Amino acid sequence: MKSFRLLALAAVSALALLRPALAADAIEAKVDALLAQMTLEEKVGQLTMASNEKTLDWQAMETGGIGSVLNFATPESVASLLQRAHSRLGIPLLVALDVIHGYRTIFPVPLADAASFDPAVTFRSAELSAREARASGIGLTFAPMSDLAHDPRWGRIVEGSGEDPVLASAFTAARVKGFKAGGLATTVKHFAGYGAVDGGRDYDSIDISEAELRDRYLPTYRAGIDAGADSVMTAYVALGGVPATANRHLLKDILRGEWGFDRAIMSDLHSIQEMVSHGTAADGADAAVKAFLAGVDIDMDAGLYQHHLADAVKTGKVPLDLIDQATRRVLLLKAGLGLFDQAPLDPAVAELKLNTPETRTAARELARQTFVLLKNDNHTLPIPDAVRTIAVVGSLADSQPDHLGPDAGIAHDDETVTLLKALKARAGDRYNIVYAPGCDRHCADADGITAAVTAASGADYVVLAIGEARDMAGEGGSRADLAPPGHQAELIDAIARLGKPTAAVLYTGRAMALEAVAPKLGAILLAWYPGSEGGNALTDVLFGDVVPSGKLPVTFPRVTGQVPIVYNHLPTGRPADPTDRYTSKYVDIGIGPLYPFGWGLSYTEFAYSEPKLISDKLAPEDRLTVRISVRNTGTRQGAEVVQLYTHQRVAERSRPVRELKAFQKVMLAPGEEKSVELSVPAEGLAYWNAAGEHVLEPGTFDYWVGGNSGATLGGHFTVTAGSRLVARAK
Ligand code: BGC
Repeated sequence: MKSFRLLALAAVSALALLRPALAADAIEAKVDALLAQMTLEEKVGQLTMASNEKTLDWQAMETGGIGSVLNFATPESVASLLQRAHSRLGIPLLVALDVIHGYRTIFPVPLADAASFDPAVTFRSAELSAREARASGIGLTFAPMSDLAHDPRWGRIVEGSGEDPVLASAFTAARVKGFKAGGLATTVKHFAGYGAVDGGRDYDSIDISEAELRDRYLPTYRAGIDAGADSVMTAYVALGGVPATANRHLLKDILRGEWGFDRAIMSDLHSIQEMVSHGTAADGADAAVKAFLAGVDIDMDAGLYQHHLADAVKTGKVPLDLIDQATRRVLLLKAGLGLFDQAPLDPAVAELKLNTPETRTAARELARQTFVLLKNDNHTLPIPDAVRTIAVVGSLADSQPDHLGPDAGIAHDDETVTLLKALKARAGDRYNIVYAPGCDRHCADADGITAAVTAASGADYVVLAIGEARDMAGEGGSRADLAPPGHQAELIDAIARLGKPTAAVLYTGRAMALEAVAPKLGAILLAWYPGSEGGNALTDVLFGDVVPSGKLPVTFPRVTGQVPIVYNHLPTGRPADPTDRYTSKYVDIGIGPLYPFGWGLSYTEFAYSEPKLISDKLAPEDRLTVRISVRNTGTRQGAEVVQLYTHQRVAERSRPVRELKAFQKVMLAPGEEKSVELSVPAEGLAYWNAAGEHVLEPGTFDYWVGGNSGATLGGHFTVTAGSRLVARAK
């Protein structure tokens, strides 16, 4: 955490360098002067964002009718766009893009970053991504995605930071700061609750209690806003039947009212138009008025503000004053980025700043910290020195796009180091590689399995690449079956029958259901989608140069039928008891997940002392502080993530069975012991009650400290004195 703080300080000073020369009041004055000269149509132009599609209205682009764009991605396309775009008053165009986990150099996907349990990892990846993008003329990224994920069937789980509000908040904040340090303005998205879609089906609806929304889903967005996010994007979904894009309660009461967010709010792509399909707007004109009056400043590519907002002002449906306020927010965003003073973009100069030795080295170092060792029977990993022939099986091992993952910016596939390429590069005369794909990226047919078995039978070690091709993850990538896709189970089975030591490398952007295949594999190393240097980073860990230290930011179910299954669920009146049928569980599978939240092995082992509380009685203004010693009892240097969980025994609204409250990653040499202090303000134990109050109630809490959410060491403490009202809903 300390290193994170230092990075955050560095971020602040880097940001100062990137700030425009104009002081805050000079910016305000400039914006006011512009506003005074703008026509209504020019103002509406600033509220219009257009995508780089065939249908783009170039006439509007050349006459100030479009204020911002998306999907102009390469420096060349941005440069030619900027030459063509024109506004009478010299208002610059804002160029926005989904810079999610890299621009030209691709870093691990955000969910992988969360597995590092070290926000400095994601800060650095965001900073370097932003630097590349900003040098290429991009001003704003549509990131970080701050949606807490509830169901791994939802493909967009890959873009966020998992299922825990405390972990995901820390990562959201670090990403905002990192992007800003690299020079990009940021967008917290998708406000709000997108990660709770029914059945994990993308774009489906949500209907959860206000208290649950506030306890579980809202803290991550708030963390991004408190970290300095420049804009907020609404979600496609409807909550309780009200689309987020015209949801006054979310946008006006909570975002603007309670949180005081005074920057720009934008719709998602076409989400204003989609209000018609939602059945809450009669037509485009109606949708435009409703979204605008609910607080959406910018229409992303639906063209509805462009076509209807000026008329709505003229007919008195929309007050001009609100148009002025929204335009002001957009102009302030542009001025804050320094766009009014930006030098012309030279793509040749930009190119020199992309895919540099610095970004490549960082991509490799950061990826190594995100891998999670799910199992490792009989020390299958690291690959022993004595191994002479390695069979690499599985076409994902040599698939460049599947190392990059979804949302891979303007990456060049051929700049991506795959696992196979890295293993070959390292082999020298130390070992031989035989490669057999077994089946294609989706493992759609089983024809190659026999050849793979033949290849592997001559080897003394098998590295088996399994998991999901990248098109199975990301937006629109919901899956109904979380088991390895296609014929992979057959491939795994056939290889396992050879009885060779077998380490699986698992590519995925979500939690998968591995119960059927895990027992057949000696080791499983979760690679996620590891980015441009993924193969090198994996090889570093497979051979033991680097010890894996990632932990799961999501619960891995046994089978798909168990989802949603999150570790921080609410209690039931009948907790699962294997001896009692009438308790909460399934009759056809074991109790609990396959791998719990926070889980991850190492090549070394750690022993924990009994934890000690600084005080077991807390007043509301105190802090909960736990001290524990962790010792590396193995023979390798390694990092452990020490995690603190709590549970309030009795409350007005029942509290989750466990909640992560603090975590810290510590590096330990063999035999080394360190004392770790985990601390959280007592207010961090508060929750939202049904009356719309955020309260810290007195009472007894259990706590646990350890290396995953199943930690057993711990005790209890009490919060004394009267309850404290931390906040109240509007
Ligand atoms: C996604 C957003 C994204 C936007 C622009 C939408 O479909 O939901 O997350 O930022 O497209 O690419």
